Amino acid sequence: MNPSPLPAPLPAPPACTAEPSHWDQRYRDRADGWELGRPAPPLELFLRTHPLAPRTPGTVLVPGCGRGHEAALLEALGFRVIGLDFSGEALDAARGLHGPDRPGLRWLQADLFDRPALEAAGLAAGRLTGIVEHTCFCAIDPGRRDDYIATACRLLAPGGWLLGLFWCHGTPGGPPWGSDPQTVAAQLGRAGLVAEIWEPASGSVAQRQDEWLGLWRRPVATAAGAGTPTMLKPLADRLRTWGFSWEGLRDNRHGEWWVVGQMVLIAAHALPPTPPPSALGIHWPLALRLLGGLIFLTGLGVGGQGALNLGASLTPLPEPIPGAPLVTEGAYARCRHPLYQALLICSLGVAIALGSLLHLGLLLALATLLRLKARREERRLCLLHPGYAEAMASTPAIVPFVPGLDWRVCSDPA
Ligand SMILES: C[S@@+](CC[C@H](N)C(=O)[O-])C[C@H]1O[C@@H](n2cnc3c(N)ncnc32)[C@H](O)[C@@H]1O
Repeated sequence: MNPSPLPAPLPAPPACTAEPSHWDQRYRDRADGWELGRPAPPLELFLRTHPLAPRTPGTVLVPGCGRGHEAALLEALGFRVIGLDFSGEALDAARGLHGPDRPGLRWLQADLFDRPALEAAGLAAGRLTGIVEHTCFCAIDPGRRDDYIATACRLLAPGGWLLGLFWCHGTPGGPPWGSDPQTVAAQLGRAGLVAEIWEPASGSVAQRQDEWLGLWRRPVATAAGAGTPTMLKPLADRLRTWGFSWEGLRDNRHGEWWVVGQMVLIAAHALPPTPPPSALGIHWPLALRLLGGLIFLTGLGVGGQGALNLGASLTPLPEPIPGAPLVTEGAYARCRHPLYQALLICSLGVAIALGSLLHLGLLLALATLLRLKARREERRLCLLHPGYAEAMASTPAIVPFVPGLDWRVCSDPA
């Protein structure tokens, strides 16, 4: 009799990462490949040196804190910190390394998704100033990420922040489960969080070169549900999506001052012709008036096409919308900044139609401002989209072959 064939090996059981026992075992076995033995360098660098880094005072949660390096760093920086983890092994190690509970640092053993347990521990809605994420988001099942984000939004006070280092690797399987920057940004944005920073991290350890660092905020008005008249709410929401904030108007964090300058120059086009051609003894020909009008309309057309092509990536700020795709088609295949080109065409049309030296000056001022604004925008685009450098080499910037407006024909206009 032939022996019956050996049964095929059973597939490995899925990692039960929703169970604290899974993590306890990994800590006991020292199967803790994520352990850096120190706070993640990009987070530490950011918190210690970045001008936009959140400032004390405030109560900050570190979910899935593990051995507590980030929690201890935050306490040393002056925050009141809660290091939360559902693994008792992790928290025992954290206490051993950083000391027991004290006024500035508390270790909390609880499941991040267990709302009653969090509330019983004093973590009710709106209690936190900030949350610092490091390798918890990639450790939980990807199907629970929206839950993670909803929990973060619930716990944050209006105006509260989420500072996170997200490991956007593309390797299948997990933990650590990967992602990509667009998806993470879209998930956080859908939950109503607004990005102040979303960029490739600097200073990552060698084995984690795909980390992205983000500072996201729960908006004050939306969270409070008050403060903005209903009629203006869509406008306020749109401005927030673009990245505008009162803080930005004060410190230019997303290039707000460029937009203000641009608006002032555009508005100045409504001034009367100065000096009027008649004051110089010139009767401004009808043909030039008509030509100027035609050029102006052409500018509107170019702008309309550019805005349509850009779609959801459209923002007046020189800071790209976090997670927005790079557009290189339609008007963007002809030039990299068709909206700036459109503004200059319109401005030229007005100057010709009015025969005004003032408007000629406004055209030159607008060209200078847009050139500098585009350069700032491109520095960010190069950082966020590796393919952008290629577009810069092949596609003119604002106006083809015009020195200063097409940086392929002059060395460095910035
Ligand atoms: C990959 S480890 C990272 C630990 C720490 N953040 C670090 O970078 O060293 C993930 C941690 O999240 C914890 N964790 C996973 N799911 C959790 C949950 N639902 N609630 C609380 N902690 C959780 C695990 O126990 C583990 O300590």
